[in-house]
Amino acid sequence: MRGLWAGLLALLATPLWGQQATDAVAPEWGQAPVADVAQVQAAQYMVVAAHPLAAQAGADVLAQGGTAADAMVAVQAVLGLVEPQSSGLGGGAFLLWFDAASGQITTLDGRETAPLAATPRLFQHPDGTPMGFFDAVVGGRSVGVPGTPALLTEAHRRWGQADWAGLFQPAIALAEDGFSVSPRLAAAVARDAARLASQPGTARYFVPDGQPLAAGARLKNPDYAASLRLLAREGAAPFYTGTIARDIVAAVQGASPAGLLAPLDLAIYRVKDRSPLCLPYRGHEICGMGPPSSGALAVGQILGTLAQGPALPPPTDVQAWRRMGDASRLAFADRGRYVADSDFVPVPAQGMLEPAYLQARAGLMVGPQALAPEQVQPGQPRFQHSLNWADDQALELPSTTHISIVDGYGNALSMTSTIENGFGSRVMVRGYLLNNELTDFSFRSHQDGRAIANAVAPGKRPRSSMAPTIVLRQGVPVLILGSPGGSRIIPFVANTLVAMLDWGMGPAQAVAMPHMLNRFGTFELEQGTAAEAMAAPLQALGYEVKIGPLNSGLHVISRTPDGTGWLGAADPRREGQAMGR
Ligand code: GLY
Repeated sequence: MRGLWAGLLALLATPLWGQQATDAVAPEWGQAPVADVAQVQAAQYMVVAAHPLAAQAGADVLAQGGTAADAMVAVQAVLGLVEPQSSGLGGGAFLLWFDAASGQITTLDGRETAPLAATPRLFQHPDGTPMGFFDAVVGGRSVGVPGTPALLTEAHRRWGQADWAGLFQPAIALAEDGFSVSPRLAAAVARDAARLASQPGTARYFVPDGQPLAAGARLKNPDYAASLRLLAREGAAPFYTGTIARDIVAAVQGASPAGLLAPLDLAIYRVKDRSPLCLPYRGHEICGMGPPSSGALAVGQILGTLAQGPALPPPTDVQAWRRMGDASRLAFADRGRYVADSDFVPVPAQGMLEPAYLQARAGLMVGPQALAPEQVQPGQPRFQHSLNWADDQALELPSTTHISIVDGYGNALSMTSTIENGFGSRVMVRGYLLNNELTDFSFRSHQDGRAIANAVAPGKRPRSSMAPTIVLRQGVPVLILGSPGGSRIIPFVANTLVAMLDWGMGPAQAVAMPHMLNRFGTFELEQGTAAEAMAAPLQALGYEVKIGPLNSGLHVISRTPDGTGWLGAADPRREGQAMGR
């Protein structure tokens, strides 16, 4: 599969990033299948995105002197066409921006909102029991107000300098002339054909004449081109108060089942400027997106808990994975109880990252065996204003896309973008899919008489796992990364940071490292990799293990060891590409 998509750039031997080489690392852990990893070396600007055409559009903008924000707009516009199952104008995103002039990080929240008519029982049957996941996902009920059009315009207004309309030209040309359906998109359509076929407009595009799109087929999307032309000409306004807003409402209310979105929901939508969450780790500052995302909090808790103990052994040692897995389980327990939209519930974010609290959590991990389930309960962080929440019961399946960019001016951008489930709600409007982000809320609103923090409420933003990350050293960015993957995003990102900051791996090695994750007790090991050999040692420590595909899409940019340029790497598990010059 990669052969089709790789090849624009030389694939170079893996460099090491960080202070030390990794002699202690066995080949299967320390060396990525380099020929399979799209990596570019020592460039002055760089973009890593989930499809070569999207990366190319971004790299062209950077080559013409555009900023990382300009490039992001071009990348997102192309991704909405060639990777429509993962993100687009019908979805939402979180964006981190490092501003070279001020040295500041800004985080923008372009997350979807629940309609004003939504109630905590949105995903419940009349008797209060939760709906089945796909019964809730497919159709209008799951659609929140899209944030991506507003986020693109806001990012460009703040940090763009290229002509706005010109940023959409590559995507418009591809939509009008056609692009080649990628193997990954074709496989996703084939898997989802029945659900796609349940919505008539969607069926016509993805399953024409009852046949799922085939890999290599030339696909045009004139409706999407027209939407982009409107966005190019008039900005995001038509999406929130104009003709497109009317069509979105009509599609959601006319879908089967119908949703609650109304014109006022779109008209009052705003991108929010949130405070970045940063914490120290191994001499670096790890910065990410706070609530309504659980990403930076959970990644921060995992790393902060690990930092309380001795140095991690090398990745060949099962004890390294035991500690990483148990730190992750502890973070997921807190996430399930406390994290939701902080405009609606008090999230004890400060207390959850306090060193004393993390030290107490790390104390639970002392000893060589797996933590027993009763030890992995939510803690009681300070600044906790509500001790009485029940644990969240949202289900997040892998989806989403991540964009990492650095520009020639020293700015850095890390953005994770989504329509939630693959193909979102399956409802299509004007050439793009609408999200099903509302199913990131807990389907249950209460458990045993206690409220759940991440319950649905009007205007509220569903909790996310997206973890766009920028790592600083002495105030300047050295790593820009993130991944898709539902709630697995959190350990994908945390483990990649450990690979680079503890084990000294370079970006290509780090993104290709076999995955071993533990969110809820069972260790998930990546099928067909060296991770499988860890099954017996982990079982001996008391873990249940499950072997299967773990489809991350890690996109990493790292500063070269001499500090003069950038290295970029795209996850070999998907179709992404790193491009720079
Ligand atoms: N819907 C994926 C996420 O927000 O984490």
